[in-house]
Amino acid sequence: MKSSFLLFALSIAVSTAQILLAAAGPSPEQVVDTTGKKVRAGVDYYIRPVPETPCDGRGPCVNGEGLVLIARSVNVTCPLNVAVVVGFRGLPLQFTPVDPKKGVVRVSTDQNIKFNQTTACKEGTVWKLDDFDTTTGQWFITTGGVVGNPGRETAGNWFKIEKYEDAYKLLYCPSVCKFCKVLCKDVGVFVDQNQSRRLALSDKPMKVHFQPASA
Ligand SMILES: *[C@@H]1O[C@H](CO)[C@@H](O)[C@H](O)[C@H]1NC(C)=O
Ligand SMILES: *[C@@H]1O[C@H](CO)[C@@H](O)[C@H](O)[C@H]1NC(C)=O
Ligand SMILES: *[C@@H]1O[C@H](CO)[C@@H](O)[C@H](O)[C@H]1NC(C)=O
Repeated sequence: MKSSFLLFALSIAVSTAQILLAAAGPSPEQVVDTTGKKVRAGVDYYIRPVPETPCDGRGPCVNGEGLVLIARSVNVTCPLNVAVVVGFRGLPLQFTPVDPKKGVVRVSTDQNIKFNQTTACKEGTVWKLDDFDTTTGQWFITTGGVVGNPGRETAGNWFKIEKYEDAYKLLYCPSVCKFCKVLCKDVGVFVDQNQSRRLALSDKPMKVHFQPASA
């Protein structure tokens, strides 16, 4: 009697463990930088968009492309928007995974992305999905997000990294709010009439590499 109860309890324990394991699944792959090392949380990186036309080693493309902060429009500066520039490695950025205890950055995992840069804007430099821009019909990536506090209130502040061709791409598809209806789209580049190239949700992803700022 006693032993059959023990067996029964044991079988429940085993199946519970199996269910928990199945729910957790294997950890998603770690993101690697341009030197082949793991991308780590809280460390400075340059996000380097991969130019569509390969660089011929001359002219402004010699330093590749980078991400910077620009005024959101001619009349309104703050909060700043995220944009691509040519010929400059851009400003350094840091990642904070949704579980801040995790020291490494993995694909398919919500991250806050923050420029390690001081600006004149009070909003700070944490990436955030802007409200829909009716003039251009775009969802731009702006700043003014906060780090951490995953949930409905912060759903606009989380971005994911996925493998894309021989590199990576960024996307907005947060999992921090289980019961919200959120957009799920790649981060691409919107070129406006003035040739300013702002990050916006797009059907065409921007291919990127992560270059350690220390390299
Ligand atoms: C952020 O930038 C400051 C100023 O350039 C630098 O001193 C600091 O080391 C950077 N932080 C990290 C984590 O690299
Ligand atoms: C910018 O400000 C000027 C002067 O106030 C105004 O005429 C113009 O319409 C504004 N432009 C935009 C895009 O809001
Ligand atoms: C482009 O630049 C001109 C001149 O600075 C400005 O009047 C216009 O509003 C700008 N357009 C956009 C879309 O930013």
